Amino acid sequence: MKIAMLGSGFIARFYADSLAAQRRKDILVSVYSRSTERAEKFAKDYGLPHFSNNLDEVVGNPDVDVVVIALSNELHLAAVEACAKAGKHVLCTKPLGRTGAEAKQMMEMVEKAGVMGGYLEDLCYTPKFLKSLASVKAGSIGRVLWAKSRETHPGPHSDWFWNLELSGGGAIVDLGCHCIEISRNFIGKDIKPVEVMCWAATQVHPIAAEDHALGWVKYANGTIGQFEVSWCFRGGMDLRDEVMGSEGTIWLNNFLRTGFDMFSTGKGNNYVAEKAESSSGWLFPVGDEVNELGYNHMFTDMFDAIEQKREPSESFYDGYVVNCIIDAAYRSAKSRNWEPVQIDDWRGRTDVTEGHEFASYDDEFYLIKEEILPNGEKKLILKHKTTGEVVRRDL
Ligand SMILES: NC(=O)c1ccc[n+]([C@@H]2O[C@H](COP(=O)([O-])OP(=O)(O)OC[C@H]3O[C@@H](n4cnc5c(N)ncnc54)[C@H](O)[C@@H]3O)[C@@H](O)[C@H]2O)c1
Repeated sequence: MKIAMLGSGFIARFYADSLAAQRRKDILVSVYSRSTERAEKFAKDYGLPHFSNNLDEVVGNPDVDVVVIALSNELHLAAVEACAKAGKHVLCTKPLGRTGAEAKQMMEMVEKAGVMGGYLEDLCYTPKFLKSLASVKAGSIGRVLWAKSRETHPGPHSDWFWNLELSGGGAIVDLGCHCIEISRNFIGKDIKPVEVMCWAATQVHPIAAEDHALGWVKYANGTIGQFEVSWCFRGGMDLRDEVMGSEGTIWLNNFLRTGFDMFSTGKGNNYVAEKAESSSGWLFPVGDEVNELGYNHMFTDMFDAIEQKREPSESFYDGYVVNCIIDAAYRSAKSRNWEPVQIDDWRGRTDVTEGHEFASYDDEFYLIKEEILPNGEKKLILKHKTTGEVVRRDL
């Protein structure tokens, strides 16, 4: 597959590092940047035969099969429109839109053009995430009750992120999009998110958007997705997920503690990891960042999906649902109430309700708890199915 990159900034380089890694057969052939100088530098660094400061020229290049959008948030819509017009498959970075309405337009454009719209949600492709999701789907932790995801760091690296109009929001739209989609995967993408409660504040930076937020997304089956996001966190980039199930638990630490600890007096000039704040003292580097952040598995799924004419695991539809949840989070932060998630085009299940599945002990009783005491005694706590009486039974 031949790929064009739109943008030459931070994420464009992460993507290019992934696309150029491990002797991949899918290759970058062109790059667009509004500055010819930066386009040329990017093309030189990655050995691309073509570069331009004209977006339509890059998208329309007949050598290009698929376009990757790595531009600031306010440019995603116009870039998707250009790709759809040119009949090119398009992979767009997160967040898909600044709002659900923008994301819906993008989704409809690719669907009308008959091209694939892949949502580049890398954190739903990390090796740890993929394995834990497979365990959840295999039933290893039972019924998912709560899925929490946290992304916090000291704030983004470019000016436009801090401009509410260009970015569409603060930490919620920037980081919450990852956390929401992680929880949604664990809970089940066919389960409808119904309402959101969110607290958001601007605690540290002189900006119009929030730099810190917590939120709860309630799903139709009664499960809760929780997001914790901040641009105020000091000490690196904290990416952690937690899933509580009726039969088990998963804790993931994706970045700040991966089992690689290093001490340096600060000698040398080493890059440690994304958003690491220091290169001296005790450090927590990340072995193969591009792989551990999910980029390799993400692009493999995207190109396989194009070849196999199927949807990728993360599609524009997923990006749209995430944007709708974020819209509700912003409404809730303002109103201080649970706010409904408005999804005009819901494609998942509509037959799900908040059911309770209690474990039966026998025909008469439910099992509440089985306990072993320090002296070795065993007992059961049971509830009678009709009278509701709670009783103890020693074993
Ligand atoms: N993990 C992830 O998936 C991840 C991480 C970081 C950023 N992102 C996303 O990637 C996108 C780009 O972020 P970034 O971190 O690379 O930012 P960046 O500032 O490093 O790069 C932005 C790119 O957009 C270009 N650009 C900005 N304004 C422009 C304009 N008016 N006209 C033409 N080009 C313009 C810049 O020149 C640059 O090439 C954002 O949507 C961001 O949310 C995703």
